[in-house]
Amino acid sequence: MQAPAFQDIQALISDSYACETIIGEGAYGIVLRARHLSTGRVVAIKMFKETQEDELTRRTGLREMGVLRRLRHDNVVALLEAFTRGGRLFLVFEFVQRTVLDDLEASGSGLAPDLVRDVLWQLLCAVDFCHRSGIVHRDIKPENLLVSSGGVVKLCDFGFATALRGDGAAYTDYVSTRWYRSPELLVGDTAYGTPVDIWALGCLGAELATGLPLFPGESDLGTLAHVVTTIGNLPALQAGIFRQNPLFRDEAMPAAPHAAAASLAAKLPAADSQLVDLLNLCLICDPARRATTADLIAHPYFAEMRRGNMSADSFASDEGLASILGTAHSAMGSLASVESAGRMLGLGDGRGKGGRSRSRARGRPHGSDAAPRKASGGDASGMGHDAEEDDVYEEEADAFLEEEEEDEEEEEEEQEEEEGSQGQSR
Ligand SMILES: Nc1ncnc2c1ncn2[C@@H]1O[C@H](COP(=O)(O)OP(=O)(O)O)[C@@H](O)[C@H]1O
Ligand SMILES: [Mg+2]
Repeated sequence: MQAPAFQDIQALISDSYACETIIGEGAYGIVLRARHLSTGRVVAIKMFKETQEDELTRRTGLREMGVLRRLRHDNVVALLEAFTRGGRLFLVFEFVQRTVLDDLEASGSGLAPDLVRDVLWQLLCAVDFCHRSGIVHRDIKPENLLVSSGGVVKLCDFGFATALRGDGAAYTDYVSTRWYRSPELLVGDTAYGTPVDIWALGCLGAELATGLPLFPGESDLGTLAHVVTTIGNLPALQAGIFRQNPLFRDEAMPAAPHAAAASLAAKLPAADSQLVDLLNLCLICDPARRATTADLIAHPYFAEMRRGNMSADSFASDEGLASILGTAHSAMGSLASVESAGRMLGLGDGRGKGGRSRSRARGRPHGSDAAPRKASGGDASGMGHDAEEDDVYEEEADAFLEEEEEDEEEEEEEQEEEEGSQGQSR
């Protein structure tokens, strides 16, 4: 996509926001830091590219909006407003100062042990909340974890999130940036679910402790080779799916060298043994045996966090969150009825009137390497959703935006009529 110029974006939203700087750019569009004109509040605005141009972008945006309308939690980034302008979808978020990737890059050799625990605990609170709300995030990684100046960790980037379906339902075979992708995703199993987020959490935990990505494969096969070498051979079900996957037709299945079993501990020599134990439970290849969020919350590694009652709900002292809670008016109209704590921030008078490329840093695979992997598709590139994968959140978000657009049109017509009658009376 030809990225729209900063000035073009500013022109589209200048009635409500002053754009300050671009903070992220992806296949879907751009993330900007901006200031809301009437309140002075700094926000992050994610602008999607023109939706008529690209169905996949449209669905990514609707999905993110639909899911985040429902998810209100201190460790999940708050969506403040959504509107369309010039055929583009704009999502306005609370602004959060930095990402876990920034912290990892600044530290070089990993975070201090207490900080590792703190970040993991907050991420766990977010993931637990998502899973209990029937949502799988599907793209947990350092650049999708924001950190406020008060140290509150907030999961963001719900463009690939999906609603859980019943047992045995098939999901799109794509998701997750490669290094954080679970073995069931890597081999191409479409019957995956919440355990994919637990795997990613495990990968992230190891990276927080060492500063190095745990399974930095340059392809799906390369990542699988890293997994097998560190964790051990794939279970029979996954090995069978691998052999039947046309993408791997000419490839030998990666096999564990002798005595692979103990090597996660070997990769984390300085880490707390309880952390290694926790990560081993996250990094079980068989998703049915992998830990759940409830198992992890109960793990001895987090005893202190539980004792201190440091549930995510106790982080409300963060200045960003406090300011949001202080403003109950919802700019998203009908959304207010589904919000529990009135955390939707009212920006302006309603209805939308209202970088650096981190993925290139340290040779990381770009987020958009999450892609549908069809037999003909080769290695994943670009992002997208399987057309088969209908999602209630997309439908709801679509309906909301349609209503909003109709309102805007009506208002424009009224204004034109008013201007016309004023002209006549003059
Ligand atoms: N609410 C926010 N506050 C500050 N920065 C943000 C916010 N949301 C996103 N960003 C920045 O923009 C980047 C891209 O946003 P994200 O939602 O992850 O989109 P994508 O990865 O699909 O491009 C993030 O990695 C982060 O650096
Ligand atoms: Mg992202």
